[in-house]
Amino acid sequence: MNKQQPILELVNITKTFNTQLIFQNINLQVQPHTILSIVGPSGVGKTTLLRTILGLEDVDQGQFLLNGQQFDPHNHRQNDIGVVFQDYRLFPNLTVLENITLAPIQVQGLNQEQVLQKAKKLLDSLGLYQKGNLYPYQLSGGQKQRVAIARALILQPKILCYDEPTSALDATSKGQVAELLEQFKASGKTQLVVTHDLEFAKEVSDKIFKLEQQS
Ligand SMILES: Nc1ncnc2c1ncn2[C@@H]1O[C@H](COP(=O)(O)OP(=O)(O)OP(=O)(O)O)[C@@H](O)[C@H]1O
Ligand SMILES: [Mg+2]
Repeated sequence: MNKQQPILELVNITKTFNTQLIFQNINLQVQPHTILSIVGPSGVGKTTLLRTILGLEDVDQGQFLLNGQQFDPHNHRQNDIGVVFQDYRLFPNLTVLENITLAPIQVQGLNQEQVLQKAKKLLDSLGLYQKGNLYPYQLSGGQKQRVAIARALILQPKILCYDEPTSALDATSKGQVAELLEQFKASGKTQLVVTHDLEFAKEVSDKIFKLEQQS
């Protein structure tokens, strides 16, 4: 069978905090347009592994490759890998639309009106069209999460990562997130899900990577 080149590859990634070994020689491949879940018990290092991929945490050893090319996660172009954090990290003092348009306008310097139209379209597609002028505190948990997803999506990342996307959701909202992930996959996105929710992982993933406790 003709195997595609992984879009993201981790080679022998090792991470310690002070003297505590968190994980050792992690080898992981993510194929394009697939959903890969990283699962494991609380404290095993799932969030830490995600943070290393995002360049938010240094590693002790190992390499990262994007489309077969080695890269330094600290330097990767901002729009290669997007993330939806567990607590969403919306700016509380900005409206929904301001949260979504801030980076494309301020960081990427894109045209304000065009970005705004795109943000409204995204909100519409996520069932949030009427929420654009509200502040995060005026939204439900699931709505906040979708705003965080819109904020990541507007930067058109090739890979979209989620840390515990179901942890704050009830069964119905979980189902909606699963549907969204399927929808993004169908539109060509590659997605990486960090979760302790094995059922959810089994439902949405093409592949599951189990992070094991280090003794
Ligand atoms: N900045 C840090 N300094 C020291 N130790 C840390 C730091 N961040 C995380 N750790 C430790 O690394 C280990 C893994 O933490 P991490 O948050 O990655 O786990 P997790 O698998 O995401 O857990 P959970 O399912 O509860 O979210 C824990 O023992 C934690 O205390
Ligand atoms: Mg975690």
